[in-house]
Amino acid sequence: MPFSKDFLWGGATAANQYEGAWNADGKGDSVPDHCTNGSHTSPKRVTREFEEGTLYPSREATDFYHHYKEDIALAAEMGFKVFRMSINWTRIFPTGMEAEPNEAGLAFYDKVFDELKKYSIEPLVTISHYELPYALVEKYNGWYGREVIDCYVRYCKAIFERYKDKVKYWLTFNEINAGTAPMGAVLSLGVIKGFTGPVNKVPDEPQVRFQGLHHQFIASALVIKYAHDNYPQFKMGNMSLFATKYPHTCNPRDVLECQKQMRIMNWFCSDVQARGYYPTYIDRFFKEKGIEIKKEPGDDEILKNGTIDFYTFSYYMSSCETADPEVTAKAGGNLIGGVANPYLKASDWGWQIDPEGLRYSLNEIWDRYQLPMMVVENGLGAYDKLEEDGSVHDSYRIDYLRQHIAQMKEAVEDGVDLMGYTPWGWIDVVSASTGEMAKRYGFVYVDKYDDGTGDLARRRKDSFFWYQKVIGTNGEELC
Ligand code: BG6
Repeated sequence: MPFSKDFLWGGATAANQYEGAWNADGKGDSVPDHCTNGSHTSPKRVTREFEEGTLYPSREATDFYHHYKEDIALAAEMGFKVFRMSINWTRIFPTGMEAEPNEAGLAFYDKVFDELKKYSIEPLVTISHYELPYALVEKYNGWYGREVIDCYVRYCKAIFERYKDKVKYWLTFNEINAGTAPMGAVLSLGVIKGFTGPVNKVPDEPQVRFQGLHHQFIASALVIKYAHDNYPQFKMGNMSLFATKYPHTCNPRDVLECQKQMRIMNWFCSDVQARGYYPTYIDRFFKEKGIEIKKEPGDDEILKNGTIDFYTFSYYMSSCETADPEVTAKAGGNLIGGVANPYLKASDWGWQIDPEGLRYSLNEIWDRYQLPMMVVENGLGAYDKLEEDGSVHDSYRIDYLRQHIAQMKEAVEDGVDLMGYTPWGWIDVVSASTGEMAKRYGFVYVDKYDDGTGDLARRRKDSFFWYQKVIGTNGEELC
């Protein structure tokens, strides 16, 4: 049997796309609370001031805040061993700058962790998943401001101490490498002080993005070291968006271009987090882009002392890289870039479906770091049809997941140390890239629509019963 007997099967969510209750019990507003809805063809907008009559989908999302008992019972019914979720920073520190945490926010996650415990489900907590307190955007231009490191460390200390007996697995930043691409300016770095407009029109400043990333590296390393010193029972992980890339042809120029893009997008951040220092190849990239990272004395030491215990990543798709300006057929994907692969089909949102790419990526990552790994996001965003009897026949989703799990099995046979698998949006949530509800990933359908209507009722899709069987047989039965 390829998967170990304690393999962590489960599902993934993030507070900003799932919880709703955006201003309940003292919560402050975070970047996604300032984001409007959008679609595949028209980008969502970020607005500095709240606009009357505009829909901000993260605000209600699919309301885990008031449905957590029902949802955790559904997860337990599928047999989850692990539940990936994030803590919403602004529930704990509404502006990010308070000296003391908000007790009502802390109490909410106590209830969630206790509920998970009832079913022996292990929480896997992302500390910051695309929801920087908006006040930090306006005060410091998000992560560009070095001051945000202290705010993050204070937040981590508060949640570590409070949940030390309830949470063992922590991820410091969701898809930290999002900051290497322009979209990361909004999603992960919040370097959008004063900006109002479509998210793809944020003026791109690589210097600002990479300086912001440096601050995230320092913040991550500081709290990992702190956790190792004070809570030896904790396991501290990174989380990277793994955007697998292939050379478009065997022309050595394409191969070199591919290597370059792989390094910037996929390896740079995790090299820092897993090895504890900046890789040498990044110097040339910085030089070519005119980027100068301002480091403070002691930063190198901090990075060295705060490396991760396990490596986690999201995997949805792959793309190709080319040095040939004539090849222009772009691959879809929110952050990923690259050109289309003629051998692959794409989802309705243009994301190229590539199960073998997951096996390839797992092997590449394992060879590089030799750290235990978890695939903490994977899945198919698709249009679902709710039938009159409340069923959803999502065979396309089952196909996608079945093929990816089959490739994970191959990777385990290849020798990869894989700890677990949490497919994305196991219950329908708001899309991060477009703000849509129509782009659904879940095993559970939530009655909620792009115009903001819906009674939030939960319904089991066909994939729910399929995944229940997969978990029940520890991945043996995939049909
Ligand atoms: C990852 C994010 O990029 O992909 C999630 O960590 C996100 O937050 C997921 O939801 C799927 O992307 P999307 O845009 O389809 O929601």
